[in-house]
Amino acid sequence: MSDRLIFFDTTLRDGEQVPGCQLNTIEKIEVARQLEQLGVDVIEAGFPASSPGDFNSVVEISKAVTWPVICALTRAVESDIDAAAQALQYARYKRIHTGIGTSDEHIRYKFNSTREEIIERAVAAVKYAVSKKVDEVEFYAEDAGRTDNEYLARVVDAAVKAGATIINIPDTTGYCLPDEYGAKIRYLMEHVDGLANGKAILSTHCHNDLGMATANTMSGVLNGARQVEVTVNGVGERAGNTSLEEIAMIIKCHHATIPLDFNIKTTRIYPTSRMVSSLMSMPVQFNKAIVGRNAFAHSSGIHQDGVLKNSQTYEIMDPKDVGLDDNNIVMTARSGRAALKHRLVSLGIKVDPKQLDRIYEAFLKLADKKKELNDDDILMLAGADTAAIKHVKLDSLQVTTGKGVTPIAAIRLNVAGEEFEAASTGNGPLDASIKALKQIIHRKMTLKEMTIQALSKGSDDVCKVHMQVENDGHLYYGFGSDTDIVTASVEAYIDCINKFKPQ
Ligand code: KIV
Ligand code: ZN
Repeated sequence: MSDRLIFFDTTLRDGEQVPGCQLNTIEKIEVARQLEQLGVDVIEAGFPASSPGDFNSVVEISKAVTWPVICALTRAVESDIDAAAQALQYARYKRIHTGIGTSDEHIRYKFNSTREEIIERAVAAVKYAVSKKVDEVEFYAEDAGRTDNEYLARVVDAAVKAGATIINIPDTTGYCLPDEYGAKIRYLMEHVDGLANGKAILSTHCHNDLGMATANTMSGVLNGARQVEVTVNGVGERAGNTSLEEIAMIIKCHHATIPLDFNIKTTRIYPTSRMVSSLMSMPVQFNKAIVGRNAFAHSSGIHQDGVLKNSQTYEIMDPKDVGLDDNNIVMTARSGRAALKHRLVSLGIKVDPKQLDRIYEAFLKLADKKKELNDDDILMLAGADTAAIKHVKLDSLQVTTGKGVTPIAAIRLNVAGEEFEAASTGNGPLDASIKALKQIIHRKMTLKEMTIQALSKGSDDVCKVHMQVENDGHLYYGFGSDTDIVTASVEAYIDCINKFKPQ
């Protein structure tokens, strides 16, 4: 059995399905390049048949990266496979990932079909994908976690005989227990000839609904799987997918007992995590393993004392191994362009001179308001620059509010190059601002949800606002950040408006 573990990253496909986290093609290319630097073996770049945007992203990512295999997802449908093969035309190494649901729930309720017919459809899809002359065909047995092992082995055997060389065993609903998932992988290794003789390998794909994605993935690896399907920060639908950084660091920390080689450059983990979090506007939970803000923060006196005497007392990993450098230089208004560029590069963000100028200008403005800027602030500025192509822009906002006064807001917007002004009162500063805005933008829109989060600490901190606004029966997700809480909220509202479908 091979002693190499393949990292298959699906941040840009399964990860990107999270509502509100969609990336545009430019952002996807940025993430893909970072994944290449990180050393992932396979990038699942999208599901080309699902939309023209996804198709285009697969095309552009294929052109933008060199070393990783580029993978495109399909259903077991010929037109999907045609779209995938076409979208992959520029990729240096191409993989089609096709498959079908195999659990009784999927067979009965999703396909109204029978077990035998599903095997036939699986075989036909794999053969059709092979006929497209891509480098590799991967087959997924959707909901394999709830598929009985005997039948699953028949499906896998048929898919391998049809030409698939990677077989994905997804725990689609995140239901399996680690022992159960590991036993499933072992059963397949022992009962499918093509796996036992190395014609094909097994891949894990675990969802985190019960918080067991990492444990299940490791159990799969310990029982013979040689590819792991993961996402940065564990992003993904519902409770997410297995997180890349957790698997990489588990294998690194336990290398003596799990002697598998892998290509991930672990020192690039932290910058990649921050980049994905910033571009997807998806905060990383503070106590998230490996990349959470508190992952290496020792707060109790006993722990601090121990770590100061010798870091090995309470640290099982060196923070530097995941790319957290100690000399996290604090940036201030006196920092120059070169220092800012250096910080951006160490956070995994490449900028051209024009972008650097724009980000530097925004940096100086923010540094005037907030004396010291940390990595989160810098990522936020870089993220705001990437998303800067906007139809509606907030030029100015003036608000009077407080106890015993009627809140009033005056707003100036730039709409497609034209300036508009309006003023309104409201029951609070945000209500007044949105009412003023609605005098300019005449679309029926309702604020559904909002969250406000401080980036670090201190009353001078930058706040991030995530918002959900409904328009025409659709929900739009927006993001804004500023040291002023009302401005950040209005920016988030405008971010939603900029995403509305044209009337
Ligand atoms: O979770 C899942 O089953 C998937 C497949 C489409 C691979 O994402
Ligand atoms: Zn999935």
